[in-house]
Amino acid sequence: MAEEKKKRDGFGSKLGIIAAAAGSAIGLGNIYRFPCEVGNNGGAAFLLVYLAVVIFLGIPVMLSELVIGRRSQSNSVGAFKKLAPKTAWPIVGYMGVLCGFLIFAFYSTVSGWTLEYIVKSVTNSFQGKDLATIEKEFTAFHDMGWRNVMWQGIFIFLTGFVVFKGVKNGIEKYAKILMPLLLVILIALGIRSITLPGAKEGLAFLFKPDFSKITGKVLISALGQGFFSLSLGMGVLITYGSYVKKSDNLTSTAFSVVIADTVIALLAGLVIFPAAFSFGVKPEAGMGLVFNTLPMLFNQMAGGFWFCLIFFVLLAIAALTSTISLLEVLVAYLSEELHLKRQWATVVACAGTMLLGAFASLSLMSDTPFAIGGRPVFDLMDFISSNILLPVGGVLIVIFLGWYFGKQKFFAEVTNEGTIKAPLKKVIFFIIRYLAPVAIAIVFISGLIK
Ligand code: TRP
Repeated sequence: MAEEKKKRDGFGSKLGIIAAAAGSAIGLGNIYRFPCEVGNNGGAAFLLVYLAVVIFLGIPVMLSELVIGRRSQSNSVGAFKKLAPKTAWPIVGYMGVLCGFLIFAFYSTVSGWTLEYIVKSVTNSFQGKDLATIEKEFTAFHDMGWRNVMWQGIFIFLTGFVVFKGVKNGIEKYAKILMPLLLVILIALGIRSITLPGAKEGLAFLFKPDFSKITGKVLISALGQGFFSLSLGMGVLITYGSYVKKSDNLTSTAFSVVIADTVIALLAGLVIFPAAFSFGVKPEAGMGLVFNTLPMLFNQMAGGFWFCLIFFVLLAIAALTSTISLLEVLVAYLSEELHLKRQWATVVACAGTMLLGAFASLSLMSDTPFAIGGRPVFDLMDFISSNILLPVGGVLIVIFLGWYFGKQKFFAEVTNEGTIKAPLKKVIFFIIRYLAPVAIAIVFISGLIK
């Protein structure tokens, strides 16, 4: 036991945990998935529900996960085994591990595209092209199924490489420097986007809510996007919480991460929608909304070549810090619960993801055999994990914390055993115990009924 403790890796500094958790949260979910969901769910009305989800559910659920992780000093399955021995609670952890595989599988598809787009940027292959051509080339790229699988494989390999080297040397070092740079680039792109002719319409789409558009589907999509974007509901932050020092302030960590993630998502919206409306890309264009609008935007910028290149490099790195967290959950489980060597656990998790992930990539070809009911397996994996498994995981986590773990231990953990103040602890605990479970359940059921 003592020996096992010594071997556990940990985050070196406060900035370490914030950087790592923000690195997990900020990724394709903000820059690619968020605009897609806003576009498919009617714009501003979705955004409002999303913000409510992030503030009222995101912070409490995130704090719950961090508390469970740090208290148990264990991976997402082991945490429940330790804190709730001889109960069924570890199922929540197993569900998270399963969900992690599923998310990593389709997430690595889009992550792979960032590498293709880096190559396209280096070869300056967007320059002077019109929207129709850029759209055609995006579809043509999807149709090269195996090329997608290749990039996906390379991306999974990169993720494995970082995780292989352990928590401190891997995750922390990369996240700290590069995420602020992404913020700067997005601000520059945002300024160009909102000064394009016709950008106003895009701003109205994003910020002028039409409340009649709030349906069950919008609610459940916003809930799913909130959990997805903050990396909640599958044990990433339980696992990361277990690496956090006892002296760190968990509440302020949760606030910082939620704010950083939300700012990046909003900026992405500000970059995409004004430009999309200006160029005539439909808000419902799905993946094309981002991957076709951006090259068009770079074409309209002085120094567009460099913006394009730097942007896709940063996007790849943002995706990488997210896939690292997904893989970390799997590896922590396999190595601590099934006692595989960390290195072997990494290999097994990456190989499994690659196998499952290839279906996600190949399902986006026009003539794919991997579609169910006309929908690519990719969409199905995304829907099941983001909109179902994550919220269910989230609701179980807050119920566990609010009703099983209890107030006393929660207060002890957020105040670091009474050594620091946590002025919001009572409000947050109230939300965890009563509001969050009810809210998630209502949204969830309204979405299922539709
Ligand atoms: N949050 C990340 C993003 O927005 C993706 C991600 C990483 C994630 N780890 C997760 C999503 C765990 C859900 C659960 O890109």
